[in-house]
Amino acid sequence: MISRNTIDKVFETARVEEVIGDFVNLKKAGSNFKGLSPFSDEKSPSFMVSPVKQIWKDFSSGKGGNAISFIMEHEHYSYPEAIRYLAKRYNIEIEETEQSDEQKEQASERESLYLVSEYARDYFHDILLNNPKGKAIGLSYFKERGFTDETIKKFELGYGLDDWTAFTDAATKKGYDLKYLEKTGLTIVNETRKFDRFKSRVLFPIHSMSGRVLGFGGRILTNEKKAAKYLNSPESDIYHKSKVLYGIYHAKQSIAKEDNCFLVEGYTDVISFSQNGIGNVVASSGTALTPDQIRLVRRLTPNITILFDGDAAGIRASLRGIDLILEQGMNVRVLMFPDGDDPDSFSKRVSTDELKEYLANNSQDFINFKVSLLMEDAKNDPVKKAGLIRDIVISISKIPDRIQKEVYIQECARIMQISENVLFSELAQIFKKEQRDASKRSPQQMQADAPVLEKTQAAEEVNELLKYEREVIKVLLLHGNMKVDFTEIIEEDNIKKKEIYNSSVAREIYLNLQDDEVEFTNDLFQVVYFDIINQLNQDKEINIDAFVNHENVDVARLVTDILMDAEEYGLSNWKRREIHVKHNTEEIVSKATTDVIFNLRRILIKEKIEELKTEISKGENISILDDVVDYTELKTRISQQLNRVI
Ligand code: CTP
Ligand code: MN
Repeated sequence: MISRNTIDKVFETARVEEVIGDFVNLKKAGSNFKGLSPFSDEKSPSFMVSPVKQIWKDFSSGKGGNAISFIMEHEHYSYPEAIRYLAKRYNIEIEETEQSDEQKEQASERESLYLVSEYARDYFHDILLNNPKGKAIGLSYFKERGFTDETIKKFELGYGLDDWTAFTDAATKKGYDLKYLEKTGLTIVNETRKFDRFKSRVLFPIHSMSGRVLGFGGRILTNEKKAAKYLNSPESDIYHKSKVLYGIYHAKQSIAKEDNCFLVEGYTDVISFSQNGIGNVVASSGTALTPDQIRLVRRLTPNITILFDGDAAGIRASLRGIDLILEQGMNVRVLMFPDGDDPDSFSKRVSTDELKEYLANNSQDFINFKVSLLMEDAKNDPVKKAGLIRDIVISISKIPDRIQKEVYIQECARIMQISENVLFSELAQIFKKEQRDASKRSPQQMQADAPVLEKTQAAEEVNELLKYEREVIKVLLLHGNMKVDFTEIIEEDNIKKKEIYNSSVAREIYLNLQDDEVEFTNDLFQVVYFDIINQLNQDKEINIDAFVNHENVDVARLVTDILMDAEEYGLSNWKRREIHVKHNTEEIVSKATTDVIFNLRRILIKEKIEELKTEISKGENISILDDVVDYTELKTRISQQLNRVI
């Protein structure tokens, strides 16, 4: 693990404008920098960097954060990968925390496996490009398949000579330990001899998300029926087939930018697409998709389009894959190629524009796809049709998001010409069955999954609540340390009096929310709020840097978002002019603080009233009615307070 000390050093040294300046052309704009968003294709700049606050915000995609989070977003690195990147950028030596001998050994063993794989990649690539036999056999094969020099270099393709030990000998001579050659499967060792796994094959290195070589796929060059067409690296400490997608390293930026990922079957499909201008493509390497692979894509986009060969053979087997993707909360589209084509052969026949057009015009939503595929069998058979409906509703039931689920139900009802009610009750039945099956799961979890679909009103209320919760955090972060005058109306002997007292904004909010026992519905807000209150209780001022550099990236992002909201005005000149009106800041802050407290209170009371009303409608408990009257009165008073003029 990277030591705390190193992480702190990186934070102290890295300048957000320098780090981002390596990727984005930044221009000075007032006290900030602005530039074109690296996360979308835009013509006028909406990307902003604040050197003072050491944060950035992309107003077109909504992303934002500090230097570390920029590297994580842009390079799709994990947190430690980003720290390592920045340490290298600023020549900071990385200290590792104390590891047990066993941990050290494991880490260095994995590193050795990477190193030997990277050596192999370079070796096979060099043979392909420079060895006479490599050129005559391997390179000419790739050329015949239409791969350009540029493509061959980009994907670091290689060739293993027709010689039992050429690679193993070269690697041993270079000092690589046979132990690691064997563990990566590059060399096969048995009692009598040791020999190269990838003899006489063209090679496709398989990269991790961050570009390290994990293993290889090797294609035979002859049409021999006996030998397997592809031979792959075996599972090892660094290569887990089920957790890897071929092409993800080269595709990641394009996937994020296009906000979609094309999924194909094979190495050559990925490469041909890439060569023909479609970069956002990865391959499952001929096997069924796994949840780990889907999660790799989900880090980059919620949208997957599965591309099927024209022969339709594997399609039914792939339906299971679709349900897996839905379970991960992703959106699935499906696209078929003309009969006899796979993505590789199709993309070779057409121009870039034709390919793009085909992809844009022929993808179908998974519901349409599944219905049209299965409808064939079920056409005039009511029993089969009922089975089909159930099958599709099962797919829909996998979708975690309630609203999306409902949209799909509507779509399905429309296509199959049955009533939504039938589908909803089918959904409810599936849900009940799942509940019975999974009695181990926690009650809250089950409630969250319940297909309750009177969503609109409830959703609006939740949104309003979230809005004010965020507002509380915003006021705390921007003005928490400020001391301002607050007005309180107190009643003494039936006479209303205004009393003015001075308090810090944070204290005012804290005391009020504590009185009302308010808890934030949003976990993230709750985390930030607790941290703020902790800082306060230790009699410290609120320290914004601690949040901007928070190790929880979601916290850092929320805080950056809030801080940058105010900066958005700097983006266009006319907007800037608008805020030149002079205000008395203290008064505004005081009013904003009171307003947000009252607004939160108003919503909570509204909820309380609804709750009580439901109780009444169920039972005959008249005493609750009094409560409702009381609360309603309170609500009116609060509304009046909100509209008051100071
Ligand atoms: N595959 C494999 N082992 C095999 C056959 C296939 O690992 N024996 C994987 C490879 O990743 C391959 C993918 O499944 O790329 C798809 O197989 P296929 O369509 O047969 O290969 P293509 O990629 O189309 O290769 P080519 O065009 O060279 O025939
Ligand atoms: Mn093929």
